[in-house]
Amino acid sequence: MSIYSQRRAALTRALGDSVAVIPAARHAVRNADTEYEFRQNSDFYYLTGLKEPDAVLIIAPHREREREVLFLRPRDRTAEIWNGKRVGIEGAVADYGFEAAYPIDELDAKLPDFLLGTASLHYGIGMDERLDRLVLDAVKEARHRVRRGGTAPLSFNEPGTLLHEMRLHKSAEELDCMRRAAAASLAGHEAGMRATRPGLWEYELEAVIEYNYRRAGAQDIAYPSIVAGGANATILHYNTNREQLRDGDLVLVDSGAEVDVYASDVTRTWPVNGKFSAEQRAIYDIVLRAQKAGIEHVRPGRSYNAYHDAAVRTLTEGLVDVGLLRGSIDELIETNKFFDFYPHRTGHWIGLDVHDVGRYKDADDSYRALEPGMVLTVEPGLYVQADLDVPDRWKGIGVRIEDDVLCTSSEPDVLTTAIPKEIADLEAIVGSDALARV
Ligand code: GLY
Ligand code: MN
Ligand code: MN
Repeated sequence: MSIYSQRRAALTRALGDSVAVIPAARHAVRNADTEYEFRQNSDFYYLTGLKEPDAVLIIAPHREREREVLFLRPRDRTAEIWNGKRVGIEGAVADYGFEAAYPIDELDAKLPDFLLGTASLHYGIGMDERLDRLVLDAVKEARHRVRRGGTAPLSFNEPGTLLHEMRLHKSAEELDCMRRAAAASLAGHEAGMRATRPGLWEYELEAVIEYNYRRAGAQDIAYPSIVAGGANATILHYNTNREQLRDGDLVLVDSGAEVDVYASDVTRTWPVNGKFSAEQRAIYDIVLRAQKAGIEHVRPGRSYNAYHDAAVRTLTEGLVDVGLLRGSIDELIETNKFFDFYPHRTGHWIGLDVHDVGRYKDADDSYRALEPGMVLTVEPGLYVQADLDVPDRWKGIGVRIEDDVLCTSSEPDVLTTAIPKEIADLEAIVGSDALARV
């Protein structure tokens, strides 16, 4: 049984008498007749391993037969000559472990059959209007057919309530993908550090990093890279990457490789000329200590919020130490004064999606406890905006340090730990293989 069949079996058990309808992603138009690169819907991929568009998975545990069915594009010689091989109906059964498969064009006619006899439907409404229409019509048709007895869905549920809890707990196979994504990110970030010199353009550094991801086995980036020189680092979602790196500035790189559909998410910040200034070093040191304090809390039984609280406390203490904030630490935290320098949270789940699925809170609105197998990012930062009332020498400094951390039954396991982040290691590697001037 493949891992995908095992996951479908686990979802089948969790669904009880409900039916799940999980669509593949569609091609998205970039401009005119050019499409964006195709990226599969993570839920669909998790349950099928199929990387094709225009497919829908149905899991109907209440049925005697055809409990797991895939609707997908049939083989088509001409289409395959133009666009590449398709799995097809036969392949879905022979190679993907499906009891039955049908052409996607038959979904509207066949879907009502799968809805008969169930009282609730797990379908993520609001993501795809065309499919929403088709599913609602099928529900209407099923309700019509049972007027003289039987059941048809009366309620809709988010598939995420079951599926996303499964995805939150990573298996050994998934962790292997995530370790390989981390290894590719290591190759990219280290190459980027070596290539950095004053005068290099942000997009050149971006290209060096992403080229090395691919050379190390990544099929893609997990999200658009942020390569932010100087004060661009204080713009949290800067990713135009069009400016030149200047002597005396830092560069913040938030970039991660995607390997076999799993993400890594890494931020490193290093000096363009290979040497931190006194102020840069002071800020960097605070962020690094906050990051290490946060990582220490990635342990089973700790509240999800503990690592954020630990990072905020260390950042606030550091800001007071260097004179950028004044007052009692507790009060500065309670009144959110640190927010001027640190306006984001300290991380998120990571997996198939860079901001991965899974609840952060329990039903009583308190943060849930961490468990072995959960993977999250720890990514504190400090950003000294130019309009803050602080001495000029601090202005424009932006630092973030981000690693991907697995909660184990004991010590935190930092998947991205090999990527340099100690000041001495960064100063040693930066510029050691600077690109020839272009
Ligand atoms: N790169 C996105 C994030 O750090 O959350
Ligand atoms: Mn992140
Ligand atoms: Mn990031």
